Amino acid sequence: MAPDGRTARLLLAICLAAVSVTEQASITSYDKENNILQTFREWLDRQREGNHVDDRSDPQSDYRHNGQKLSEQSMDDYWQGLALQDELNHEGEVFNGELFVESEWPEQKVELGQVGGVATNQRGDAVIFHRADREWEEDSFKDNVYTKKDSGPIMEPTVVTMNRSNGAILDTWGQNLFYLPHGLTIDSNDNYWVTDVALHQVFKFGKNKAVPELTLGKAFEPAINNDDMERLCKPTDVAVTKDGTIFVADGYCNSRIVKYSSDGKLLNVFGQDDMWVPHSLALVEELDLICAADRENKRILCYNAGLNNDELLGYPNRAYTDKDVMGRVFAITYSKTAPSDDLPGTGFTIDLHTKDSSKNDIIAVWSPTEEGFEMPHDLDVTPDGDNVYVGEIGPNKVWKFDKTE
Ligand SMILES: *[C@@H]1O[C@H](CO)[C@@H](O)[C@H](O)[C@H]1NC(C)=O
Repeated sequence: MAPDGRTARLLLAICLAAVSVTEQASITSYDKENNILQTFREWLDRQREGNHVDDRSDPQSDYRHNGQKLSEQSMDDYWQGLALQDELNHEGEVFNGELFVESEWPEQKVELGQVGGVATNQRGDAVIFHRADREWEEDSFKDNVYTKKDSGPIMEPTVVTMNRSNGAILDTWGQNLFYLPHGLTIDSNDNYWVTDVALHQVFKFGKNKAVPELTLGKAFEPAINNDDMERLCKPTDVAVTKDGTIFVADGYCNSRIVKYSSDGKLLNVFGQDDMWVPHSLALVEELDLICAADRENKRILCYNAGLNNDELLGYPNRAYTDKDVMGRVFAITYSKTAPSDDLPGTGFTIDLHTKDSSKNDIIAVWSPTEEGFEMPHDLDVTPDGDNVYVGEIGPNKVWKFDKTE
């Protein structure tokens, strides 16, 4: 792939309460004799119970698929997709995935509230979406409705850009817009996507950072259940393809991924039978995968993203499920151009090179100190793959990691 032949395909994940990596993450290969299972619940049940297939009906199948069976074309595309993944996966060299904290970054302390989202811009600066003087407290919600609407939006800037080399504040915005910031994603066209769990909305900001270009969900109105497609409920994260297709992890109350066209039209929904708080998304466009941190189930699930063949959207592709190794998974991110030299716990580097269960997929475990993270919430990797930022809630701070010590 990359001319320097150092292409790697990695998922970086941060988890709570994880131990050392002595066991492998398990991945089940597909048996070509079998029909493809539609949900991870079925897939994982089968993994557990031998060949038992659970055929309980799926209330959302109308959204996800037009029928129960894939067309022959889609079956072909499916197997071709897996073959392509194998091919891509054997290119390049695997790096050991370790990351080292940069203890002098930021040089000067930056005051932040609870850090909801972390992202990087094209220059590799850290961009933080934080809650300033606002906190997510036990009484912040009643029946999923935000109880502190009368406090008004956070008056201080909630988005802070920190210089990659010294952590100095370069830019701030996002005052008088948000109530409880959560996720932040910067897409390849430099649009900023944020989620606000109090508003139950997703916003896209282009050049103008005062007025959103696109809004999903209805302000302060939680979706009542998984069938409610007008609203969202405490959405956590967004992933966007190069051509603008949108995936929203929704969220704390529902457990689904909603797919929209670039202009915000509902396309599909999937994952609602599988997950318990999808907290973070990682899109792997060249493998046609959308991966989700299934937080309370302590696992990462990767679905077909349906970018090449819409009929395949939402089909299970791979899962990282080792509860002895991974605690609750708060955030994941994907890097194709990952740190590639010799690159220490609760941050994980997972190798997407292999879906062969005989290989060790978690290739490194790393953390800022021997005590690990306190309450990591989000992370991102710079476009060149050289640095990783991790945001924490309580103490509120941002860590910068480097590929060398
Ligand atoms: C970040 O800080 C470095 C070192 O002071 C400086 O050279 C660079 O111009 C700064 N970056 C931006 C975008 O201002």
